Amino acid sequence: MSGETVQEVFEAVCRVAPHISSGLLKRREYVGEENPSDEKQLEADVWANEFLKEEITSIKGVGQFASEEEKHVTECGDGVSVAIDPLDGSSNIPTNNLVGTIVGIYDEELPCKGRNLISAFYVVYGPLMTLVKAEGGQVNEYVIEKDRKDQVEIHLASEDIEISEPGVYGIGGNKNWTDEMREFESGISQELKLRYGGALVGDVNQVIHQGGLFSYPDRTDAPEGKLRLLFECNPIAYIVENAGGASTDTDRSIMDIEAEELHQRTPFFVGNEELVDRAEERF
Ligand code: AHG
Ligand code: MN
Ligand code: MN
Repeated sequence: MSGETVQEVFEAVCRVAPHISSGLLKRREYVGEENPSDEKQLEADVWANEFLKEEITSIKGVGQFASEEEKHVTECGDGVSVAIDPLDGSSNIPTNNLVGTIVGIYDEELPCKGRNLISAFYVVYGPLMTLVKAEGGQVNEYVIEKDRKDQVEIHLASEDIEISEPGVYGIGGNKNWTDEMREFESGISQELKLRYGGALVGDVNQVIHQGGLFSYPDRTDAPEGKLRLLFECNPIAYIVENAGGASTDTDRSIMDIEAEELHQRTPFFVGNEELVDRAEERF
């Protein structure tokens, strides 16, 4: 049953993704509201959320829907719980840099641990529209296109992706790094190429394909860091670990973190196991 529902959520997101991408142009203004993480909301954040919420809550096997853009969980029947970041990296829209959508499908009521994930995927709205999906220990990449009759086509581009040897790194929050992080980054910068684009999905997509490390760590002004456990960190950690990588908050796998609050944040490291282990030893 939940496998069918995962497929229905996957197909719904693939159907909506081209509309979200084409709708970004007209929605680059801030709406003067803040999301539950006290961050300014772009019109595109709100609009993408409404679009995805309508599609996902109408799927029979979905029992709960939660979004980075909404304070509370929406009860919508019986079944799996779907947590989304409708538009990740939305501050990149005015400069036409990468943005994405992140989806985590849990088989427990929210908030809950990442170990309860049964599937997770992210869309990257870039030169190609791609979706990377983990389910049952396998990570596949799809290209989403529209045919001449405006119908959505989903093409399997890469199957059973394994994270490559370390190649690139990107660490966010640099203005407020701790001294330990400055020292750690200066070591890593001599081994790997710097690739930081300001959208989690784009930066992690590079690490999945080229190997390496992505982190948004604790900051001197934000001990829990910036990224949200349920909507960003758990789904991405699930995907990276299913691709043979690792994740940590510097003490444990991201997916072992107890979830008390729906919008709780966590320091976040993902990438090759050797690099994640190094971060755990260092911090
Ligand atoms: P969102 O747009 O969903 O709030 O996510 C933005 C996040 C994440 O995508 C990215 O890794 C991080 O913010 C970038 O933060 P900085 O702008 O501080 O680099
Ligand atoms: Mn995000
Ligand atoms: Mn977002």
